Amino acid sequence: MSNPTAAELIARSNRLGADPKNTNYAGGNTSAKGTETDPVTGEPVELLWVKGSGGDLGTLKETGLAVLRLDRMRALVDVYPGVEREDEMVAAFDYCLHGKGGAAPSIDTAMHGLVDAAHVDHLHPDSGIAIATAADGEALTATIFGDKVVWVPWRRPGFQLGLDIAEIKARNPQAVGCILGGHGITAWGDTSEEAERSSLWIIDTAAAHIAEHSRPAPFGPALEGYAALPEAERRAKAAALGATIRGIASQDRPMVGHFTDSDVVLDFLASSEHPRLAALGTSCPDHFLRTKVKPLVLDLPASASVEDSVARLRELAVSYREDYQAYYDRHATPDSPAIRGADPLIVLVPGVGMFSYGKDKQTARVAGEFYTNAINVMRGAEGLSTYAPIDESEKFRIEYWALEEAKLQRMPAPKPLATRIALVTGAAGGIGKATAKRLAAEGACVVIADLSLEKAQAAAAEIGGPDVAVGVAADVSDEAAVQAMVDAAVLAFGGVDLVVNNAGLSLSKSLLETTEADWDLQHNVMAKGSFLVSKAAARVLIDQGMGGDVIYISSKNSVFAGPNNIAYSATKADQAHQVRLLAAELGEHGVKVNGVNPDGVVAGSGIFASGWGANRAAVYGVEEKDLGKFYAQRTILKREVLPENIANAVFVLCGPDLSHTTGLHVPVDAGVAAAFLR
Ligand SMILES: NC(=O)c1ccc[n+]([C@@H]2O[C@H](COP(=O)([O-])OP(=O)(O)OC[C@H]3O[C@@H](n4cnc5c(N)ncnc54)[C@H](O)[C@@H]3O)[C@@H](O)[C@H]2O)c1
Ligand SMILES: [Zn+2]
Repeated sequence: MSNPTAAELIARSNRLGADPKNTNYAGGNTSAKGTETDPVTGEPVELLWVKGSGGDLGTLKETGLAVLRLDRMRALVDVYPGVEREDEMVAAFDYCLHGKGGAAPSIDTAMHGLVDAAHVDHLHPDSGIAIATAADGEALTATIFGDKVVWVPWRRPGFQLGLDIAEIKARNPQAVGCILGGHGITAWGDTSEEAERSSLWIIDTAAAHIAEHSRPAPFGPALEGYAALPEAERRAKAAALGATIRGIASQDRPMVGHFTDSDVVLDFLASSEHPRLAALGTSCPDHFLRTKVKPLVLDLPASASVEDSVARLRELAVSYREDYQAYYDRHATPDSPAIRGADPLIVLVPGVGMFSYGKDKQTARVAGEFYTNAINVMRGAEGLSTYAPIDESEKFRIEYWALEEAKLQRMPAPKPLATRIALVTGAAGGIGKATAKRLAAEGACVVIADLSLEKAQAAAAEIGGPDVAVGVAADVSDEAAVQAMVDAAVLAFGGVDLVVNNAGLSLSKSLLETTEADWDLQHNVMAKGSFLVSKAAARVLIDQGMGGDVIYISSKNSVFAGPNNIAYSATKADQAHQVRLLAAELGEHGVKVNGVNPDGVVAGSGIFASGWGANRAAVYGVEEKDLGKFYAQRTILKREVLPENIANAVFVLCGPDLSHTTGLHVPVDAGVAAAFLR
C-alpha cells in the first residue's frame, strides 16, 4: 500500500462491508483525505481517496479507489452550473484526478470531497434506511439521535447532495452524521476510527431504537393460509413453479434465477400487509436497477395447487408488464433511455419464497439480497411509523438515469452461453467434466451430476464457485433421482436450458459372455437413463418456453459394428435414435436435439481406466498405456481424440452458430471411415 491513509481507508471499508447490517452488497462508499508528495513539484499535495464506481466495500482493494486532488475537486464548486446540470460534474471529476486516478470516480464523490471531514462513510444500512423511509423520519431522527445526527430531505445522489451535506456539517459542528431521507446514512470523523465509530453508532442506535420501540407484528396479523409450507413441501413447490416463473421473467431477455426461502421472506409473505407494502416498492437508489420498482406477488395462499399457481402467475405477468410499461410511459421524457424490458426481477410466492433474476447468477442472487434488505427496511419503518418510500417519479429518474445507462453501455459484451443453464450427467470426470468446464468458460451456469456427490462437488469446485457450478448426486437410471437432479438445477439456477446426456459405462464382452445383468446395466444407464433425463428436463424446457438444447454423447459404436460389444453398442444405437425421435418431437418447443459420436477418448476417461482400456488393449494386442496412440493411428487424421475435442463439439452444437440444426450427429473420432454417417 503506497499511502498509510489509503491503507487505513481500505481496512475500515473492509470491516464495514463485511457485516451485512452495515450496507447492502456493493452499496455505499467511503473516503479519506490525506497528503502525499506531488511527484511533479516535490511539494505536499492534498488528496482524496474515495471508493470508485462499482465494487463492494467488503472486498475493496486499493485499485478500487479513485484518487483526486482535493484543491481541484473543491474548485468545482465555482463552476457548478446548478442542480439541473449537476450530472455534468461527473465528467469534470476526471480533470481532478491525481496521476492516473485509479478507479472511475462515482456520483457520490462530491459528497466525500465537499464535506469538511478527513474521513467520510456513506452507507445503506437496513436500520438507517428504515428511519430514512419512515413517514416521520425527520422527527424520528431528532428523537433517536438528538442533535448528533441531522435529517437531510430526499435528494437524488449527485453534486447538489454533496453541497447540502457539506453545509449541514458546517452548520452542525456537534453532528457526527446525517440520515439521508429515502436513501441511507452519511457519517464522518477526523480520524478513520472516529468515522467508523460514528457510522456504527448511527447504525446500532437506529437498530436498538427499532428493537425497543417497534410495535409488535409490523407487517400486520398473520394471513390465514399464507404461512410457510414445511421445508420439503415448499422446496418441491418451488421446483415445480421455478421453470414457469423463469419463463415469465425472461420474456424480454433470458435470465438466470435465484431462490430464497429465508424466514425474512416467508414471514413477510405470511402477514396481512405484504400486498400493500410490496406494491409501495423499494426505496434505496441502489435497488431500482436490481429489483425493479416493485415485485410480482402471487395473490394465492400457500396451499394453492401448482396448476392454479401457474395459471394465476401467467395472468399476473401480463398485468405486471402492462403496469411497468405504463410507469415508463408516465415518466419517460424524449431523452430517457429506452425501456429495459418490462418483466419482473423479483417474484414472491406465499408459503414458498422469493425468486430473483439477473443476467448471471451473482446478479440474480444480489437482487434477492436487495429485496431482503427492502423487507427489513419496511419492517423497521412500519414498526415505528409508516413506510414511505420516495416518489415514483424519483424512482424512475434513478432507474433511467443517463449516468446509469452509460454504465450499462460500458459493460463488456456477454459470453456466448451467458444466461444458459447446463445440466451435464456423468460430469465428475472424463468427457462430462471437460464439457462442463467448456460450457462454463463460455458463460453458462453448470450443474454437474454424477453417482458420487463428493466427486460431483469436487468437479464443480474446480470449475468455479457456486455462482458458476454446483455438484449434485444422481443415478440417471433411477427416475426419482433424476427428478431430484432436475429440481436441484431449477432451485440452483432457476431452470435448465442445455442438457448433456453423457453418463455412461462400458463393458466389452462377446455375445456369449454378456449376462442379462450386463445388458440391463448398460441399457439402464444409457438408453433408459438418457430417456429419463430428457423426459424430466423436457418438462422444464417446455414450461420455460425459452427453447433449449438436448445433446447426447452417443458413440462411434452407435453405427459401427465390431465384435465383443453387443450390450454397449446396442444401447448407444438406442441413444442415437433418441436424438432423432426427440428432435422430431421437441422442435415445436424450440428445443434442438443433437448428438456427438466420440471414439477412442482414452485420456481422462474413467471407462478406459476401469478395465475397458485393458480389455481393448488386449483385443488389439497393444500395451494399455499406448492405447491412445494406437487409436490415433487407426484414424484418418492420425490424431488422438481428447475429452476437450468432444466438449468443443457440444459447445458448437448448443452455441449461437448452429441455431438451425437439429437431429444431427457430429463424429469426433479423428476420422473413422467405417463410422461415416450417410
Ligand atoms: N471415452 C470414449 O472413447 C468414448 C467413446 C464414445 C462414447 N463415449 C461416451 O462418453 C460418455 C462419457 O464417457 P467417458 O469416457 O468420459 O467415461 P467416464 O467413465 O470418465 O465418465 C462417465 C461418467 O458417468 C458416470 N456414471 C456412470 N453411471 C452413472 C449413472 N448411473 N448415473 C450417473 N452417472 C453415471 C460415471 O461415474 C463417470 O463419472 C459415455 O456415455 C461414453 O459411453 C466415450
Ligand atoms: Zn447511496
